[in-house]
Amino acid sequence: MAERLTVPAVRDRKARRGAEPLVMVTAYDAPGARILADGGVDLILVGDSVAMVVLGYDDTLQVTVADMVHHVAAAARGLARPAPAGPSPAPLLVADMPWLSYHLSSLDAVGNAAALVRAGAQAVKLEGGRKRVGVIEALVDAEIPVMGHIGLTPQSLHAMGGFKVQGRRAEAARVLVDDAKALAEAGCFSIVLEGVPDVVAEMVTASVPVPTIGIGAGPHCDGQVLVFHDLLGLEDRAPARFVRRYADLRPAAVAAVATYATDVRARRFPTSIESYHLSDREAQLLGLYGSSTDPGGSGETNADPPHS
Ligand code: KIV
Repeated sequence: MAERLTVPAVRDRKARRGAEPLVMVTAYDAPGARILADGGVDLILVGDSVAMVVLGYDDTLQVTVADMVHHVAAAARGLARPAPAGPSPAPLLVADMPWLSYHLSSLDAVGNAAALVRAGAQAVKLEGGRKRVGVIEALVDAEIPVMGHIGLTPQSLHAMGGFKVQGRRAEAARVLVDDAKALAEAGCFSIVLEGVPDVVAEMVTASVPVPTIGIGAGPHCDGQVLVFHDLLGLEDRAPARFVRRYADLRPAAVAAVATYATDVRARRFPTSIESYHLSDREAQLLGLYGSSTDPGGSGETNADPPHS
């Protein structure tokens, strides 16, 4: 396997120490992880957003540890292939701990995080501030690196009263700063800041020694994360304000499928060169003379790899 970005290297990537911003994107399967690795991201997050962008749920509360293990293992298999030659090390693979996988006890949390590590993750991410300190310490004690996540924490959807920007009031902003400090002291190697005003993200970023990775948190974080389907324009839901679509793949995909359907219905697909052929000799033996036979006479009927 190619050299991989390490947790200590990520921990050191503070913008105020002159580091380049961290680039993180979510992935949920092998081809997605390979696209991101080839695109040169630093971190891949197998997010519990899989619930919404892949599995069709309305929130992230529906996914289980077993679901996450399934997707982490797929992404890890995608990264197992050697990376193309290039300057970047392979991305660090981070797995989201789903709702209720770290809320019941530290013992339970360590067991669940271990399942994600055994599926191929190098670190786990969990949501929440100071109240998570005990569980973070237990994970770090078990040698499992932890990424924190504060601000708009989607697993607190019902407690927050919806997907709402957090830290809009001075007191709430101070709580976020204290939460971030507590997470860093407990051993988090980085912290996702989601859905907070830009200046609040700047305050939080200035107050912790570990990098912050923002989503809907403005430009002053030490890195940025986007959801794969948002970045590539694969979603048909209206994007949030913080999403920048770097491609518009959904309309292209719909048009491609529609053209395929038209070609099949018009018998324009497949053509002779998209078909396998019998040699003339075998065709004659079958009494099929004059049917579609191998023009080259090689008789090769299965020379292509699958799906080529
Ligand atoms: O699950 C996810 O995609 C996330 C990102 C939004 C940070 O947690």
